[in-house]
Amino acid sequence: MLPGQEAAAEGPNDLTNMFIMHHAFRRDLRAFTAAVAGTPAGDTVTWRRLRQRWELFGRFLHHHHTIEDTAIWPTLLDRVDAAGRATLEAMEAEHGEIDPLLTACGDGFAALARHGDEDVRASLEVRMVAAAERLHRHLAHEERDALVLVQAHLTAAEWQVMEDTSAKGQFGFRDTVAAVPWVMHDLPPHARRRLLDSAGAALSTMWRLTRRRFARREAAAFRYVTGR
Ligand SMILES: [Fe+2]
Repeated sequence: MLPGQEAAAEGPNDLTNMFIMHHAFRRDLRAFTAAVAGTPAGDTVTWRRLRQRWELFGRFLHHHHTIEDTAIWPTLLDRVDAAGRATLEAMEAEHGEIDPLLTACGDGFAALARHGDEDVRASLEVRMVAAAERLHRHLAHEERDALVLVQAHLTAAEWQVMEDTSAKGQFGFRDTVAAVPWVMHDLPPHARRRLLDSAGAALSTMWRLTRRRFARREAAAFRYVTGR
């Protein structure tokens, strides 16, 4: 269990990577909500950083949802009962609801990166709260109901293949390098240890090489958020 996590479904599959991604999304949603509330509309330099950082968040979230929608949920659909089907269909529908909310937030960041406007910032704050709330609910729903199906209907070997192909299939080297410090940031030490132990030397080297730059950029983008 990581901070904010709703449930950890018991079963043969190691869902660590899934929970670690969910942790990073929740952490980012909190940070962006606070940043949008606290960053003065006129600080265009900081809004540019936030826009870039929002794009990073969006890329990883899109990647995560794409794997679920194209590989995980469709495989489960043939194996579950009617209640399970309803859960899986809800997962995909929720992804579809979240996308336009995130796009609207992206438009707000882009506008503020161009020029300061307090009305734009205030409306972005409303959109961000709504988007974060929706995504938080979706992550909780997935952890509570959909991952139970992963545990009940996929073997450990199948899950492993899914994780391996999804990691290799869609992420280029640049995205992988960018993902390492992003995933590790603020991750509780026990989960960090587990990830480093399971992923091997390449990941720990990448983290060593990227963590300071990431932390510097993070501090700059979220400069008006305390504790970031
Ligand atoms: Fe997920």
